[in-house]
Amino acid sequence: MAQLQQLVGSQVQLMPIVKANAYGHGVRQTVDALGDLRRWGFGVATGAEGLQLRTLQPHGRILVLSSWQPAQLRQLVKAQLELAVWDEVSLAAIQSLPQSLRRQARVHLKLDTGTTRIGFQRSDLPVLYRRLARQVIHVVGIFSHFANAEEAGQTRTKQQLHNFTTLLDALHIPLQEIDTHMACTAAAMAYPGARFGLIRPGMGLYGLWPSPQIQARLRATHPTFQLQPVLSWKSRLLQIKTVPAGTAVGYGSTWHAPRRMSVGVVPVGYADGYDRHWSNAAWVTIAGKRAPVIGRVCMNMFMVDLRHIRRPRPGQEVTLLGPGITADTLAALQGTINYEVTTRLSPDIQRILTR
Ligand SMILES: Cc1ncc(COP(=O)(O)O)c(C=O)c1O
Repeated sequence: MAQLQQLVGSQVQLMPIVKANAYGHGVRQTVDALGDLRRWGFGVATGAEGLQLRTLQPHGRILVLSSWQPAQLRQLVKAQLELAVWDEVSLAAIQSLPQSLRRQARVHLKLDTGTTRIGFQRSDLPVLYRRLARQVIHVVGIFSHFANAEEAGQTRTKQQLHNFTTLLDALHIPLQEIDTHMACTAAAMAYPGARFGLIRPGMGLYGLWPSPQIQARLRATHPTFQLQPVLSWKSRLLQIKTVPAGTAVGYGSTWHAPRRMSVGVVPVGYADGYDRHWSNAAWVTIAGKRAPVIGRVCMNMFMVDLRHIRRPRPGQEVTLLGPGITADTLAALQGTINYEVTTRLSPDIQRILTR
């Protein structure tokens, strides 16, 4: 967070994005880890996440970026959550609140500048004017989100930025009094013009690059800027067994012992977020050495080849994700992105904050 702040300069505020259980890292632990570092407030995806975070953060700004249900609205406003509004229906829901609550509601207009996710389009502007003129609501922010900021090509991102500034002009809202924001980690790193006064970093704060392209771009301009993943995922060997050559391992018998050897059982499976695509492909580390995953990952267990581990013992610590096996590596094995690897970690796994 301090590094990012230094990169963007002190006049730009940071809104750490802690949606999806802080990208799988544990929202409580993440909020604790950030302590009282200077920030605008937090960003979450849903109304439910906002309410949960409010119990951890009784004061301070929290923006619900992506979705809330009209049935939750009174509760969200009472909890002083700031709310994205993305179309006539969501705006009407706010405007239909009883007057006392409506006056408390603080809204960020979400504009669709080319991602074609939620947001008002240019063609919605007349409706937006009419609605806003009919009944005053407290617009405290205007924002948008990029579709291609992680990529090497810049054309679409520059176009979206241009669309955003054009829409801001067309809205005729005095911008000095409100927050305009558009930049995720990648955009904050690679597009200084997209930072405005506030950025919304997620992945970068967890020490992971949004993409190799952004990593290469930033390395070129800021060679000393480094990210270090903050998350490790650990378990313990549940059982160790010696099996003869030819023994089949796991469901479907997809792996056979090439010789007499030691097999370890790890009590973690796809129900915990250890993806089944990592069957016969990933590895864990034990005492700093690699132990390949053998056979299919089950719902609650998987097996590892212990041939290179000296005197393994039940209860020994196993690193599933950490220095020797990164979220980027696991993502590549599965044909996905590091975001999906960390956000899929079951919230039931205990998170421990170490410093
Ligand atoms: C609206 C919005 N803002 C900011 C972010 C943070 O993006 P990143 O994790 O790439 O920094 C996200 C994440 O998907 C998002 O949906």
